[in-house]
Amino acid sequence: MRLTCTVNGERREVDVDWEGESLLYVLRERLGLPGSKNACEQGECGSCSVLLDGELVCACLVLAAQADGHHVVTVEGLARDGELHPVQEAFTVTGAVQCGFCTPGLIVAAADLLAHNPSPSEDELREALSGNLCRCTGYAKIFDAVRFAAGLSDAK
Ligand code: FES
Ligand code: FES
Repeated sequence: MRLTCTVNGERREVDVDWEGESLLYVLRERLGLPGSKNACEQGECGSCSVLLDGELVCACLVLAAQADGHHVVTVEGLARDGELHPVQEAFTVTGAVQCGFCTPGLIVAAADLLAHNPSPSEDELREALSGNLCRCTGYAKIFDAVRFAAGLSDAK
């Protein structure tokens, strides 16, 4: 089965072997985009978060076929003209990365939050990121990073 979709602004065509292939598998294994991580494959951790037509989804729960004809943005697509996305920059400035496995999903989720709500309350921030688990439990720095990206705090 051949699928056509737009990934990070580029039209991509890809052959999938069977109808059950997830969008996450196709992004990582067929399109060479390993930024979205495969941690639970059950929609529990958010490590695979991407935007599908502007909506935050777990790519492990989306069939690749569902992306046919649609727009996907992965963490690789957030930087512009060689400049990191402000959320990416904030994660580095605030030291919000430990092993980094959760980081791409959190960055996509945080970028989505700030795109819709540039100045989130503490509750809104925590609610928006509640689907993204950090096994290293570095949540304090992660929340610092999002506050910093939103201009709600200084870097620590
Ligand atoms: S790998 Fe998709 S939610 Fe965990
Ligand atoms: S930094 Fe290791 S899982 Fe979050």
